[in-house]
Amino acid sequence: MAQNKAWTLASHPSGWVTEANFKLVESSAPSPKEGEVLVKNLWLSLDPYMRGRMSQQKSYVKGVEVGDVMTGETAGEVVESKHAAFKPGDKVTAPSGWQLYCCLNGDLLNKVDASKVPLSYFLGSLGMPGRTAYFGMKDICQPKPGETVVVSAASGAVGSVVGQLAKAWGARAVGIAGGKAKCDYVTKELGFDACVDYKAGTLAEDLKAACPKGIDCYFENVGGQILDTVLTMMNLKSRIAVCGLISDYNATESYGVKNFRAILVNRIRVQGLIVFDWLDRYPEGNKALQDLAAAGKLKTRESVLEGIEKAPRGLIGLLKGENFGKQLVKLA
Ligand SMILES: NC(=O)c1ccc[n+]([C@@H]2O[C@H](COP(=O)([O-])OP(=O)(O)OC[C@H]3O[C@@H](n4cnc5c(N)ncnc54)[C@H](OP(=O)(O)O)[C@@H]3O)[C@@H](O)[C@H]2O)c1
Repeated sequence: MAQNKAWTLASHPSGWVTEANFKLVESSAPSPKEGEVLVKNLWLSLDPYMRGRMSQQKSYVKGVEVGDVMTGETAGEVVESKHAAFKPGDKVTAPSGWQLYCCLNGDLLNKVDASKVPLSYFLGSLGMPGRTAYFGMKDICQPKPGETVVVSAASGAVGSVVGQLAKAWGARAVGIAGGKAKCDYVTKELGFDACVDYKAGTLAEDLKAACPKGIDCYFENVGGQILDTVLTMMNLKSRIAVCGLISDYNATESYGVKNFRAILVNRIRVQGLIVFDWLDRYPEGNKALQDLAAAGKLKTRESVLEGIEKAPRGLIGLLKGENFGKQLVKLA
């Protein structure tokens, strides 16, 4: 019988997550009951939202309790099925959590066609982060051709798709990212019109130079001082999609928003975004992203760690910006 390894929550972090907040537990792989499917996980997605799940603060989804397997999405292969829609060998994405094997009700699994693209892409540009970018851009930012779209965490899983969608839809794409290497990637590889390195210490001046006609859409992934700086450059009747506030996730005291007045003066429409609010439209998002990828207009970069043992280290690194592209753990 195969051996399972699972990362559980050992304690709720206060401030920065540490590896001591996790505990690795070993057991035999489970057997599926009627209606269930046994999945061997090949890839684990690490995502910033996981920091929120480790916390006891009220959020949009219940957090992980001490002793529970850490929440997470995986991509893997069906080993055994007691559900009519799945057979051994099928490739799926699944809400398995941080573990090598998982038995889940088949209704929770999503079958994917990994014959033309790598399976791992269904956790990144063709998966949840890609759909987040798509619905945030389509329904909230609504860029018109020629408008300027700014996105923070621009080299990452969500941000990279936001800018490529902006370009595909005829808008100007400007990224904000940490460091020259990430900015070079965003402009030279992903085709953004400009990218500003917020770590250079001249964000306001550099952003102004990159956005001579102001900002029509801002796709917010980080919050804090970056949001405040962007707010000073937003145009009349512009739009902000608040997707994430990563600079705040490990903070013991929130930075907040200092330039709130800009929203009033410029009549900015600001809307929070949680991707599963678009659950009934996932097929539309999936198709749009797959079409874009097939047309060569959706590039993907991945940061891969080998082995489930590295998952906690990987999440901490992701929250510190050590990833370069979609952060994954290769499990097998
Ligand atoms: N609302 C939703 O439904 C939803 C769904 C998916 C993701 N999200 C959010 O979208 C954002 C991006 O997620 P992702 O999965 O695409 O991650 P990602 O961008 O691939 O990785 C996170 C990046 O955030 C940046 N970062 C970290 N700390 C920062 C700080 N203090 N200031 C500025 N930037 C910082 C780092 O890039 P740099 O090196 O460039 O700083 C890091 O690489 C997160 O806020 C996440 O919570 C929301």
